Amino acid sequence: MMAGEHGLLRGRVALITGASSGIGAASARVFAREGATVVLAARREDRLRELVEELRATGAEAAYVVTDVSRREDTRRAVDFVLERYGRLDSAFNNAGWGAGRTPLHLMDDATYDSIMDVNARGVWNCLRDEITAMLASGGGTIVNNSSVGGLLATPVAAPYVAAKHAVIGLTKAAAAEYAAQGIRVNAVAPGTTRSEVVADWFAQNPGIEAALHAATPQPRTAEPEEIAEAAAWLLSDRASFVTGATVPVDGGFTMV
Ligand SMILES: NC(=O)c1ccc[n+]([C@@H]2O[C@H](COP(=O)([O-])OP(=O)(O)OC[C@H]3O[C@@H](n4cnc5c(N)ncnc54)[C@H](O)[C@@H]3O)[C@@H](O)[C@H]2O)c1
Repeated sequence: MMAGEHGLLRGRVALITGASSGIGAASARVFAREGATVVLAARREDRLRELVEELRATGAEAAYVVTDVSRREDTRRAVDFVLERYGRLDSAFNNAGWGAGRTPLHLMDDATYDSIMDVNARGVWNCLRDEITAMLASGGGTIVNNSSVGGLLATPVAAPYVAAKHAVIGLTKAAAAEYAAQGIRVNAVAPGTTRSEVVADWFAQNPGIEAALHAATPQPRTAEPEEIAEAAAWLLSDRASFVTGATVPVDGGFTMV
């Protein structure tokens, strides 16, 4: 069977930001397997090119566009690229983000605050406006934003990240409410700790932290990037047709207790 012949996202054109690694790269693989044409947007061109080649080798349709989501001209160019190449944008996973932490709030500097807000909150803000413009023109679409368990509660010594990820949930609800009647669904996922490269490095540099996180998680383990991608794929698909404005924790129960 060719990639995606019977998939959840069959026939859809999907944009994924932050697709060069971690949850974004896993999402590219899952969405392609589920039948989507995927356009990968991130900053690292070598990684994007490699992943596009990998996906095409499975029979998927894939392309990339180098994008810094904190720059509006870049997000506009990314959506224009999708429209020029494929004629429409059906789905978007606004996943790009990062989180410097481990500094107490009163010692955090302005530059760190600004850079975290720029990628995580302004990045989603930029993407939403360009994606919604395209989706209104074609009669609808589906969007998932990547928040975090830090968007639902306060995780320690990461104040700007917590603020930015709460903002992502606010933007998700605002957009969902405004565009529901026009056929656009907007939801968020809130991953718990997920084994991307940055997190693997963090674990390596901080022995004991992984075990402490497991102890606070009813399913006592770290998520794999594919598990977040699966939730995003479902939310983007027609199987979630009456779900909008929701934030779905994918956290092994971390935010439940
Ligand atoms: N890994 C976790 O434990 C975890 C938990 C909760 C939420 N998240 C969120 O998941 C998302 C993906 O994180 P990840 O863990 O896969 O990390 P990652 O570093 O592997 O992936 C982040 C991606 O975003 C890209 N990116 C960063 N800044 C960008 C910018 N300005 N423009 C375009 N792309 C940019 C990176 O290049 C990378 O491709 C982030 O939004 C992160 O906050 C991760």
